[in-house]
Amino acid sequence: MDLASQRYHQPVKVRLSRIFAFTYIEIDATPETIVQRQDRASGRLMKAPENFLAHDDVRTVWAEARDGRRDFLRQAFASAAACLAVPAVLAQGLAVPGEGDPNILQLPAHSTGLGQGVATEGYGKPSRYEANVQRRQSPGLTQTRQASVSFAPLQSLFGIVTPSGLHFERHHQGWWDVDPTTHRLMVNGSDPAIVKTPKVFTMDDIMRLPSVSRFHFIECGANTGMEWGNVAVPTCQYTHGMLSCSEFTGVPLRTLLDFCGADWKRGRFVLAEGADGSSMTRTIPISLIESGEVLVAYGQNGEMLRPEHGYPLRLVVPGVQGVSWVKYLRRIELGDQPYGTKDETIHYVDLLPGGQHRQYSSTQEVKSVVTTPSGGQVLLEKGFHNISGLAWSGRGKIRRVDVSVDGGRNWREARLESPVLSKCLTRFNLDWVWKGDAALVQSRATDDTGQVQATYGQMRAVRGTRSIYHNNSIQTWWVQESGEVCNVQLS
Ligand code: MTE
Repeated sequence: MDLASQRYHQPVKVRLSRIFAFTYIEIDATPETIVQRQDRASGRLMKAPENFLAHDDVRTVWAEARDGRRDFLRQAFASAAACLAVPAVLAQGLAVPGEGDPNILQLPAHSTGLGQGVATEGYGKPSRYEANVQRRQSPGLTQTRQASVSFAPLQSLFGIVTPSGLHFERHHQGWWDVDPTTHRLMVNGSDPAIVKTPKVFTMDDIMRLPSVSRFHFIECGANTGMEWGNVAVPTCQYTHGMLSCSEFTGVPLRTLLDFCGADWKRGRFVLAEGADGSSMTRTIPISLIESGEVLVAYGQNGEMLRPEHGYPLRLVVPGVQGVSWVKYLRRIELGDQPYGTKDETIHYVDLLPGGQHRQYSSTQEVKSVVTTPSGGQVLLEKGFHNISGLAWSGRGKIRRVDVSVDGGRNWREARLESPVLSKCLTRFNLDWVWKGDAALVQSRATDDTGQVQATYGQMRAVRGTRSIYHNNSIQTWWVQESGEVCNVQLS
């Protein structure tokens, strides 16, 4: 069975770590939370089990939780434990009122035995209990896996950094593990006077130069593109998962161009070219290069780039849509006019309501999404829930994020967690007490240039409904009375 399509319809596997007891700590005494003091007195949250129970099963669990019973949940744990080869002691590990918690009363094997030795894994892997956290394809989106996309599981991530192995992928002609000893980067001008001493750099040459490390998000211009017309996909992995954030290390492109004798008066546009079969070529605005922001990067999250992300060299173009972050970078040309390549004249353009296409709308505008609660998750109990999400802007830093639980009628300002960096993901959180009523959860980000995220109604008034790229509309998650969360759209 195709695991990806299975997730759409019949999520079946249990992730034990997704259910846990929670002791409420009073953090925020707004009028809303004071009114709901009664609810939170229970002091427990059973967090939504994500994608592991079939819909009917979830309803059973929810009903039992409400009645104070846990027969089904215990069964679900037991079968999931078998499924995931979890030690039996964990499967039995639910406290029965009055009997004490076996996880406290019985010592598990890991407290009494000898664990595994150092370097058992030369390169460490996530726990087997986290095996469900994967980047995934959207079933039926593309015909081949070489010209396709995988989506990052935003709903399962914390903080702002995307683990390299979960970073979304977008390839036009498949990925390669390129030999760094034979990889070359050529820097030339469109005519001999624009770059006086064109050069060919080896990886060793580049890695000897002064480098910088910076945190930035990368978002494909097509992220949320399936939602322009109407609701198309169920979870935030698929609505917003063409988004990732890493610490990138490399050499400012300005340094390499200076090294080659660039004429900055005549040279106003850069062409970046990748070495894979897709002939990926993009024109890069010179302002970003002059500011030192654009990097010729070889490092990602403290190690070399992963092959899927352009090993050994890629361009990092902060704030600009992902297609300009050319992977397997092999050539930089400085010229005096835009290049008008296929990937900027035909692809990655915005179809406007009148039938015209807008080109070169490269900046990823201010955007945010609530990742918890989000589509496909289920709130199992009333009481305290942490609303958490991500905000970002290609124009600079996030200044504030407002969150609504009533479809945009009322807004509360969320906490921005540090660090808040330019052209980088920002994590936001907001305390919320769920009374069990239906809720429409939204986030609305504002960046430090004053740009505010727009509603679908406002976006469609300008852009129509047939665009593909650059959809930064406000996302709505409908928390139903059953606790199930669905993707919906409000104008
Ligand atoms: N560079 C090359 N050489 N080949 C590609 O297919 N895809 C582009 C860009 N750079 C691409 C490329 C697109 S459309 C995006 S969104 C990003 O790479 C995706 O980067 P990632 O796969 O590291 O997430």
